[in-house]
Formats: sequence, structure tokens, C-alpha cells
Amino acid sequence: MTWRATVLTLFPEMFPGPLGLSLAGKALATGLWSLDAHDIRAHATDRHGTVDDTPAGGGPGMVMKADVLARAIDAAAADGRPRLLMSPRGTPLTQARVAELAHGPGIVAVCGRFEGVDERVIAARNLEEVSIGDYVLSGGEIAALALLDACVRLIPGVMGKEASSAEESFSDGLLEYPQYTRPGVFEGIGIPEVLTGGDHAKVRTWRQAEAERLTRARRPDLWTARENRLKTPAKSAEKPRDGG
Ligand code: ADE
Repeated sequence: MTWRATVLTLFPEMFPGPLGLSLAGKALATGLWSLDAHDIRAHATDRHGTVDDTPAGGGPGMVMKADVLARAIDAAAADGRPRLLMSPRGTPLTQARVAELAHGPGIVAVCGRFEGVDERVIAARNLEEVSIGDYVLSGGEIAALALLDACVRLIPGVMGKEASSAEESFSDGLLEYPQYTRPGVFEGIGIPEVLTGGDHAKVRTWRQAEAERLTRARRPDLWTARENRLKTPAKSAEKPRDGG
């Protein structure tokens, strides 16, 4: 079954963009997923193709019009797919949500302009606001590309077994341990001896310790969440799903 992505945007030329290359591009070419980018402006009704207007109450920037966006959404039949609005004020995207989306039928992603979208269309069309991080992009398109990239690599059949099991080891909530390959000495620095000694149990122990060390140092938020999960596994709402 094909995982369907529909993107509503003022810049359909941005798609598939980088998703036409590499892993996602191959999966797109072989029909594991499909992508339709629709131009929101096609649903404007005046001869200027107006899609936004000044904010009620005053203030800077422009606001995307509810009527135009609602017509664009209604024309793109969601067929039970979740409708997401890319927005810096959305719920932060997590690997767990990505995994859920990837195992569903697909998504409809709405790319707003960052000044905002009329609040009424968000409620009327049940849009789930999603943020890809605490910084402001100039539009939702790059956020939608990031979200799609994260989903596509988890669509069943896209990744090989090897990559999927690497995914599982990340899903225990730790950052990746350091990796090395040949040459054995690079600018005078060697590879940690444990990795070249051939003792697989020792390698596993070293990698686990390194993953924990990095997570504690760089992501105390992930570390605390993991500790709480290990203390009370049944009660946790944040427990990553399989593959997530
Ligand atoms: N649009 C603008 N900034 C964004 C962000 N950080 N996440 C999602 N959509 C956005």
C-alpha cells in the first residue's frame, strides 16, 4: 500500500526537492510513497490571487485567509489521513509521532506563512499544529520536507533491516555512540582499542556507556525522561513505540 503525502503550499515547486533524491527519492520512484504538492493560490477567487490579508486588530505581517485555505484543504480529500499545519507554535515533533504517522495511511501537510493562519480554519478543519524546533523558518515548506523525510525512512520497506535495528537502539532514548572506520590512525589519533580487539561483549558495554555519557552531557532532558521511564515504565506516556 502506498503511503500518501499531500502538501498544500504557496510554493509547490519546492517539492519533492531533496526528497526526490537518495533513499526517499528511490522509495518515491518505486511507489512506496506518493507526493502531491497543491498550490493554495489556485483556490483564491479574485483576479489577483489573494491568499492573505492584514491581521484583525492590527500589527505586522499578513495572515493566511481562512476561506482560501479551507477550499484548498477540502479539495485535497484527506481520506482519513491526519491534517498537519507546520507552525513554530505547534507541538514539538518527536520520533514517536513520526513513527505513528509513518505507520498510518499518510498525511496532509499545510504550509502556512509564519506570521500566521486565520485561527478559525485551524479549528474548522481540525489541523494538528506541528513544530520541528524552537526557531522560526520563513514558511512551513522546509518543515514539511523535514517531517516527510523523517516519516518516509520509517515506511515499511523503505529501509533495510540493518538501518531498522539501528533505529531500535536509538528508541531507548539515548544519543548514538561514537563511530570510527579506517584509517586506523587519522592525524595522529587512533581508534579506541576496545573497538578493534574483537570482544563483542566489551564493544557493547563501551557503546552503551558512551551513549549514556553523551546523552547526560548534551541532552539532560532526554536523560531525565529515560530515568523516569526506567523507574516507572508502565505509567510513562512518552515511552517510544516500536521502531520509534
Ligand atoms: N514554520 C516556521 N517555522 C516553523 C517551525 N519551527 N516548525 C514548523 N513550521 C514552521
